[in-house]
Amino acid sequence: DWNSGNVIAEQVARIREQVGSARVICGLSGGVDSAVAAAIVHEAVGDQLVCVFVDHGLLRADERRQVEEDYVAATGIRLVTVDAREQFLTALAGVTDPETKRKIIGREFIRTFEQAAVDLVAEAAHDGGAIEFLVQGTLYPDIVESGGGSGTATIKSHHNVGGLPDDLQFALVEPLRTLFKDEVRAIGRELGLPEPIVARQPFPGPGLGIRIIGEVTQERLDLLREADAIVRAELTAAGLDAEIWQCPVVLLADVRSVGVQGDGRTYGHPIVLRPVSSEDAMTADWTRLPYDVLARISNRITNEVAGVNRVVLDVTSKPPGTIEWE
Ligand code: XMP
Repeated sequence: DWNSGNVIAEQVARIREQVGSARVICGLSGGVDSAVAAAIVHEAVGDQLVCVFVDHGLLRADERRQVEEDYVAATGIRLVTVDAREQFLTALAGVTDPETKRKIIGREFIRTFEQAAVDLVAEAAHDGGAIEFLVQGTLYPDIVESGGGSGTATIKSHHNVGGLPDDLQFALVEPLRTLFKDEVRAIGRELGLPEPIVARQPFPGPGLGIRIIGEVTQERLDLLREADAIVRAELTAAGLDAEIWQCPVVLLADVRSVGVQGDGRTYGHPIVLRPVSSEDAMTADWTRLPYDVLARISNRITNEVAGVNRVVLDVTSKPPGTIEWE
């Protein structure tokens, strides 16, 4: 019978044996897998672990603070944040093609993480240590999926920490390799991690960058972050988080429509709500949200988010629609 305490104890013993006195690096994404993987490793080897969090500017409201403050307070983990917001905005300037955006974000991410790793390796060497291991939050389903490659075409190029260059080689520590998502969450709770991180719904690596249809700019990111925060707050308040797999909020940045508000005419952007129900994200159905919840979200967004004068609902299943718009 499965017990999160036993799994943690087993993994802690395994990691201590694997790592010895070497040092370990881990990239945090803000998501549950990397957060739990790092927390287990920290249980095992304490300050031999250092974590890196890249703020690419495509995060949602409050995510950076949750990692830097709440997660660090809960775990005592040593964290280095890299503020790469300018770098990503510059790299994405003028780009509208979805796959090009994904490739740029993935490339900049690896570059940034790699530079942080190089700096930390040098720092460790300076005080006589060596970083030999990289933690990855790989789950059991991830392994099964990537093993069964049946030659299907790439629909979207996903990004994850991992594709590091040959001259920056680490052995992998993968404490979640035998686990499913709900088990990872149970372990996260057992380790006392903040609930917003443990309960977090899936969020794509390229973040808000692929939820702005059109060029990514600072202004558009701020606008989308506000709308997304309203949607998440209202869904949580309505007790719907467990029912929904995730709810991308999408900004149609190159579309405008006419509206009327207060003293007169508006010409603003639409926000799309994409609530989906799913078991594994391979297929999905659109979630039949209660009308009163939809009404509240629509009222709040159009009243509170400057530049948005219309809220629309995506009623497409997957297939044929993917969950994310890009
Ligand atoms: P799609 O849009 O392909 O999304 O139906 C399926 C699931 O994957 C998430 N997603 C990503 N996750 N890196 C990730 O870690 C990515 O690049 C990425 N793109 C999409 C998406 O949110 C959904 O849960």
